[in-house]
Amino acid sequence: PSFENLLVESRGPVGLITLNRPKALNALNDALIDELVVALGAFDADEAIRCIVLTGSEKAFAAGADISMMANFSYMDVFKSNFIARNWSGITAIRKPIIAAVAGFALGGGCELAMICDFIIAADNARFGQPEVKLGILPGAGGTQRLPRAVSKAKAMDLCLTGRMMDAAEAERAGLVSRVVPLDRLLEEAIEAATVIAGYSLPIVMMIKESVNRAYETPLAEGLIFERRVFHSTFGTEDQKEGMAAFLQKRAPEFKHR
Ligand code: HXC
Repeated sequence: PSFENLLVESRGPVGLITLNRPKALNALNDALIDELVVALGAFDADEAIRCIVLTGSEKAFAAGADISMMANFSYMDVFKSNFIARNWSGITAIRKPIIAAVAGFALGGGCELAMICDFIIAADNARFGQPEVKLGILPGAGGTQRLPRAVSKAKAMDLCLTGRMMDAAEAERAGLVSRVVPLDRLLEEAIEAATVIAGYSLPIVMMIKESVNRAYETPLAEGLIFERRVFHSTFGTEDQKEGMAAFLQKRAPEFKHR
């Protein structure tokens, strides 16, 4: 399919999606999110793709939900359409890993979109924030829930209540991003990381993603039971046999993704 608000390509086993609505700093309107769900779903279903990178422009990953779209929404509009769960929940349904490569602004829904991804690699010019308070709304795509889990209550409250931005260094100190790299290295670094992941067994990688995400949904004891069941199931894969045989034979594994 062709997209109006995205650029989609593959780099070997890595699917690359670039948010591309430059005139509005990649503001997230419904059309863009609908397209994103289609593009992510296509990569999720494509056997040749084993990891996904989501990025924006050098100036903005995404400056938030589209304010011109929301300005005249009524309560009934947003309630009946289930804004924003209607289409955003399609993003959380993706089972392959998604790396957010963030440069420039990641604000409001842009920060929330980055947090839905499995981890964030930030360029040194990245700026994160939840400025919704300034608009008379609150973060509605997980900002009040994912941010305190990613950073701390203090930092999440500070960001959500003041609406200030934090730079890449602060975001790394706070634990929101896993690495900060120079802007001109961002895409390279994200694709390198995705290529490493894509070299491993896809079903195992999917089990790891599912299991880590469980840490946020369950008490520790239940999460450990979930992990153990998934761990046991890895011994039912061909790739566990291959991975361990390769180690013992001092050679590189050739995973079959089964
Ligand atoms: C619609 C936006 C936009 C947005 C930027 N633009 N952000 N349009 N929705 N969220 C548009 C501007 O109107 C402008 O259009 C063009 O993009 C360039 O932006 P400028 O403001 O001229 O750029 P700059 O001066 O560099 O400032 C960058 C900025 C600022 C600091 C990021 O644009 C800004 O504060 N944007 C809003 C950020 C925000 O409040 N985000 C949260 C949205 S609420 P024109 O046509 O004038 O050139 C949200 C709710 C989430 O996300 C809950 C549900 C998902």
